[in-house]
Amino acid sequence: MDYNITLIPGDGIGPEIVREARKVMDRVGQIYGHTFHYKEILMGGCSIDAYGVPLTQEALETARESDAVLLGAVGGNVGNSRWYDAAPDKRPEAGLLAIRRGLGLFANIRPAFLYDQLADACPLKQEIIGNGFDMVIVRELTGGLYFGARRTETIDGVMTAVDTLTYNENEIRRIAVKAFDIAMKRRKKVTSVDKANVLDSSRLWRKVVEEVAEDYPKVELSHMLVDNCAMQLVMNPGQFDVILTENMFGDILSDEASMITGSIGMLSSASLNESRFGLYEPSHGSAPDIAGQDIANPIATILSAAMLLRFSFDLDQEADAVEEAVRQVLKDGYRTGDIMSEGCIRIGTAQMGDRIAERIRSGR
Ligand code: NAI
Ligand code: MG
Repeated sequence: MDYNITLIPGDGIGPEIVREARKVMDRVGQIYGHTFHYKEILMGGCSIDAYGVPLTQEALETARESDAVLLGAVGGNVGNSRWYDAAPDKRPEAGLLAIRRGLGLFANIRPAFLYDQLADACPLKQEIIGNGFDMVIVRELTGGLYFGARRTETIDGVMTAVDTLTYNENEIRRIAVKAFDIAMKRRKKVTSVDKANVLDSSRLWRKVVEEVAEDYPKVELSHMLVDNCAMQLVMNPGQFDVILTENMFGDILSDEASMITGSIGMLSSASLNESRFGLYEPSHGSAPDIAGQDIANPIATILSAAMLLRFSFDLDQEADAVEEAVRQVLKDGYRTGDIMSEGCIRIGTAQMGDRIAERIRSGR
């Protein structure tokens, strides 16, 4: 089959890590008989340098017309330091918000997975990790506090700032459906995280999630208050399969969960809308401090490409092959600097891409 992919290398380490993900995808194509057609667009600082805006309308249309988008990262002080003084809509990161909003990407899926080989890099004690750590956070991405009405004003001489947390039942239902669909392909457990003891929006959240659960009798649903969840994540992380939560809680909990996997360079993500379309990117940023040195870890981007194959193209076998190749390369002892430990072989970004591409096997 033929597939059209928009590539957004972006800024900083973005081009280096996207190049390796493409290398791995092309190897998958070769072995499994697919052709991936790529169109590259500029977003972030590189687009500001070229066109004066972080994302052109034309670039957004190119992304919209493709089957999926693979993004490196945007931002940082590479190229042009004017970016830092610019108005918010002229900063590199505005490109990211514009593409999420423009394509209606309301579901942010973040798998957090600790490879056995990286147990040393995990900050938790071995007995707490126990039988491993393998979960997915399903975070609502276009509603809640970050998108609610806001204002700052002086009332009776006192400065006052207001943010509003709004959710309607449709927004809750569509993200809940995503979480349950994902749970059906995993251990069939959804933990819905809210603050229903205090917030009205959380009470509605709980009610709608309960309704959605009725369509998934095989999935075990439980509810957890967000403060308890923050604690449970470091006390007993193995209990979680799929965490379903709203925008801000998901933002915070996913950073907490990410640390359990050893390095930010290991964490992939998908941002999805109601169609098969998705935008896939590592969870980290453009890491300007290590850009251009061939030392960035490309695994998060390569695992994001695996998610792309799975979610947008339904190529489960191919996605499994990529994930297995990563596991094999770690087993072989190859490490980039961020996950390096004693007795391992330190390699660079491009070599890591080569090793993983070489390890792709046909499942047929
Ligand atoms: P960052 O994630 O870029 O870097 C944090 C630390 O992790 C740095 O020490 C960096 O060297 C290291 N790191 C990140 N990715 C790595 C990798 N693949 N391999 C090895 N080490 C890695 O976050 P920071 O420094 O806060 O932000 C830098 C720029 O990235 C900012 O302009 C920020 O706005 C932007 N950013 C962009 C995101 C995106 O495009 N989705 C997400 C987060 C930040
Ligand atoms: Mg965050």
